[in-house]
Formats: sequence, structure tokens, C-alpha cells
Amino acid sequence: MMHYLKFTFVTTAILLVVASTIAAAEPADTNYDEKKVPPYELPKLLIDKAGQSVGRSEWDSHRRAEILHLFEESVYGKTPKRQLSVRYEVIDSDANAFNGRATRQQIAAFFGEKQYRIDILLYIPNKTKGPVPAFLGMNFYGNHTIHSDPKIIQRGKKKARGSFSKRWQAELIIDHGYALATIHRDQVDPDNYRNGFTDGIHPLFYANGQKKPKPDEWGSIGAWAWSLSRVLDYLETNKQVNASHVAVIGHSRLGKTALWAGAQDPRFAMVISNNSGCGGAALYRRCYGERIHHMFKPLGYWFCTNHRQYQKKEHELPVDQHMLLALIAPRPLYVASATADRWADPKGEFLAAKHASPVYDLFDTSSLSGHEMPKPDQPIHSTIGYHLRTGKHDMTAYDWRQYIKFANRFLKQE
Ligand code: GCU
Repeated sequence: MMHYLKFTFVTTAILLVVASTIAAAEPADTNYDEKKVPPYELPKLLIDKAGQSVGRSEWDSHRRAEILHLFEESVYGKTPKRQLSVRYEVIDSDANAFNGRATRQQIAAFFGEKQYRIDILLYIPNKTKGPVPAFLGMNFYGNHTIHSDPKIIQRGKKKARGSFSKRWQAELIIDHGYALATIHRDQVDPDNYRNGFTDGIHPLFYANGQKKPKPDEWGSIGAWAWSLSRVLDYLETNKQVNASHVAVIGHSRLGKTALWAGAQDPRFAMVISNNSGCGGAALYRRCYGERIHHMFKPLGYWFCTNHRQYQKKEHELPVDQHMLLALIAPRPLYVASATADRWADPKGEFLAAKHASPVYDLFDTSSLSGHEMPKPDQPIHSTIGYHLRTGKHDMTAYDWRQYIKFANRFLKQE
């Protein structure tokens, strides 16, 4: 009896701790009840500002640009057009990585007069002949965290070498004939607002006397997306990589970033968002899980200041995220969710991908039109891919196997 009581007491205590941890991460006004999703109408993809209906030629001539502009003004902010001078320095090139299966290259890119430095880590498979397709993604905690390879230059000490190797699956990627390129988000713009926008790349673009971005100018996601395009510039100079077959990929906030990078830069041949959630693939208007006002406290700096005005007013946004996904058409797009990642609203992620379909249909690519949300672990691989992995908020070997299979269809042919 005593044992039983003790067991119940300990179990209850553990449950309480778990519950309070969840509650700490998820504000009290978070809705997880499908019945409480408000009725909503999505802004029309294929009706332009002038109220005219849009076909393939109008999409190309102006509707796509209109939508991109709306995202710049009201969500992520404008990315400066000015090009900085750049110099690449190959710091390391070693054909013996992964027991001789890959070549590791580490390239420092120096931008502008101030020689702002970003370190690119690149693995290229040795056994494939000719330029290879690649995955390009930003990492959270430093290049050295993506694999235990002792030669990866370590900058920053917060996380141990190789601590995120499961999330990156570098050897799996190499063994399937893809290169993998990555950079660290904090080297582009530290993921905090302690120093405002003075400690990342933003100041390189400020006008005289400017101290912070204007209300319609880029926040951190904009800066991170900019840097992914700069890595693509570099890959265009690397003869071992096929830069016209690069998939830009990201998890969570960096999944939001991959989508924004892919929307702005049509050179990315494929875009993959893993558990990107609110401000990523999920529909804002469902108000399920994370919402804009949750992100603004304390993560508002990811977006432009204008985005603030839509806190608790999602229905007033001139866009919703199906429109962001549609900007990627007709290129292959993959949206992935996880069953325990309710905060990111898996259903809202699926629905955004489904509602982007009319634009894919304009191009006669296979979309998610006619598809219902699949059961867990039953991926759909149309030109828009989607899966709902069983498990928590993360990027796993399961996810990577789907992305590789999907990429094999689109990035391996000439
Ligand atoms: C927080 C944030 C999400 C984000 C996630 C992440 O949970 O609220 O919007 O996607 O962090 O980047 O891990």
C-alpha cells in the first residue's frame, strides 16, 4: 500500500512538472480546440488587386509580384536590393571526410567593406561524378553541431560538437548523392534582440544615421533568408555542386526562413519547411496553436515592425500563408508537420499547402487539390509534398528520408 501511494505521489509530481513545463511554453490563451477555430475566409490567390481574375499569364505578369510585395510590407519586411562585395576564402578542403565518402569544404565569405564574415560548411559526396544536387539549410547552434566530425571549425561554445547530428543526417544525405551546405543563424543575425539590429548584417545596409530597420524593412527572418541566397551565390561558383538543383530547407523558425528565402529567390529549385508553424506554413486565420501576439512576445524581431499591427487581428492581414507557399510554384515544395507539434498547427500547415494548390494547378503540376489531410506517416508526394510524422517538434531521419525521396524525383533528372 505504502509503495502504491509513493508511486502515485511520484507519478503525480512528474505529471505536474510536465504540465507546468508545457504551460510555460504555451500561453493560457492558446487554442487547441478545433471547434473554437473561428470561421474564416482566406484572401483570394487568383483575384488581383484590381479585382480581376488571374490565369497563368496574369500570375506571371503581376499577381505573383503583388503577393510578394504584400509579404514584404506586412510580414517579413523588405530585403535590401543592394549587393555587397564578397570575397570567398577556402579555409579547408579535405577529401577524407566520413571515411573517405565525402569532401568537406569550409569557406569563409567576407561581405562589404567591413569584411563581415559568414562561415559556410559544405560536404560533397565523393562517389558521384559531375555536379551534384544539394540541400542548403541554416543551423541553430553552430556548424560544429551538425556532425561529430572533429575538423569542423567551432565558433561559439554553447552546444557540443555533433549535438544536432540526428537533426542533420549528414551521412545519409551524402550516401544518397547530395551535397549538404549549412551556415549558423547567429553569425548572420543573433537570434535575440539584446543589441537591437546592431550586431548582425543589418547595419551593413543602413542609410547614413540609420539605427534600426524601418517598419516595413526586414527583421531576423529577412536577414537569415538573405544569407541563404548568398550561400547559393557561392554554390554557383563551386563546380562540384549543381546550383540549379539546390533545395533550401529549414526546421521551425528556420523553416519559416526557408520559405521566405524560397519565395524571394526563384533560383532555389526546391523548398522544404519542417515544422515551421506560425509565420511559416501554418494558416494565420485558424488562430490554432501559436499566434502573432505570442510570437511578438518575445520573438517579434523575426518579422518587420508592421507585422505587429495584426496581433489578435489575423483576419485583417492582406495575406495568409497559402499565398507564401504559392509564391514557390511551380517549384517542388514540401511541408512537414509532426503529430505532437500542436503549437505549429499541423492541420493549418496542411491546409495552407492545399490552398496553395490553385497556383500549382495553373502550371499543370500535381498539387494537393483533391487531397485530404493524410494520416500520420503516410506522405503525399505530389509537386507539393506533405507528411505528418508521428512524434514531436524536431527534424528526424524519417523526415530526411522523405525529403531525399522527394528530391530524387525532382533534383536528380537533368
Ligand atoms: C518557438 C516559437 C516557434 C518556433 C520555434 C522554433 O516555439 O514559438 O514559432 O518555430 O520556437 O524555432 O523552434
